[in-house]
Amino acid sequence: EFHKHPKHLALASNGPFGKYDKAQLQRGFQVYKEVCAACHGLHQVAFRDLAALGYSENAIKKIASDWAIEVPSVNPETGEAATRKAIPSDRFPSPYANETAGRAANNNAYPPDLSLMTKAREGGAAYVYSLLTGYTNQQGYKNEKGQELLKEFPSAKTPEGLHFNPYFPNLNIAMPQPIVSDGQVTYAEGNPAPTVDQMAKDVSAFLVWTAEPKLENRHRIGIVTVLFLLVGSFLGYLAYREIWAEAK
Ligand code: HEM
Repeated sequence: EFHKHPKHLALASNGPFGKYDKAQLQRGFQVYKEVCAACHGLHQVAFRDLAALGYSENAIKKIASDWAIEVPSVNPETGEAATRKAIPSDRFPSPYANETAGRAANNNAYPPDLSLMTKAREGGAAYVYSLLTGYTNQQGYKNEKGQELLKEFPSAKTPEGLHFNPYFPNLNIAMPQPIVSDGQVTYAEGNPAPTVDQMAKDVSAFLVWTAEPKLENRHRIGIVTVLFLLVGSFLGYLAYREIWAEAK
């Protein structure tokens, strides 16, 4: 085993009482928009869903208009698919016309849709965060047991066009390190220039929301259900005492 287990990631949405930190989700969306969206779509998320993060209707219209949606006709001049501006009811499209085009642009690997990524991978958001911050030099890399990869397997060198990342299960990933430098994304006014680590955390938090926008509902229902069952159990106990009170 040469891959690493995800680092710990504390998010406001963790645990049975967890709630989303909307300011963080907005920052994470900013990272998605400016970095990840160049390669990844969010097919389960419509622009208008952003209202849940606190964006106004007008802001959402403006955000949507930055994306292009392909329409089923061809530009007769260029032969390319024609597009229109996205509207709030559209979903975040993949930037590629199809999987073949996506692979052609990425060393034959397809950038997967990110909507459900934090549900799909073991470790969830912590995995995404670790992956984003885990790019490292393969030379001298040691696993959690202290074994040096290239000493044990000298032929395991990362192939041309792939990138070494010990959090990726097979160690070599086609995605180049997407968040490289502090301040790469400009956050909305009032936020200091973010570090790489902060941007990685924020976008991971955002991807928890895309995968489960109703998480707060589930938590609330869970708490109410447990309380209801506790009260029910207590009443059941009182009834039991009452019914058997005479029995000796
Ligand atoms: C794969 C996240 C930006 C290209 C992935 C995976 C995640 C991810 C979670 C799946 C890893 C797995 O299968 O376990 C992100 C995030 C980004 C981002 C959060 C922004 C911060 C980009 C960009 C590109 C890109 C800008 C293109 C230049 C790819 C490719 C894969 C991939 C090609 C497939 C890798 C493989 O299977 O080897 N990304 N990504 N990603 N991403 Fe990204």
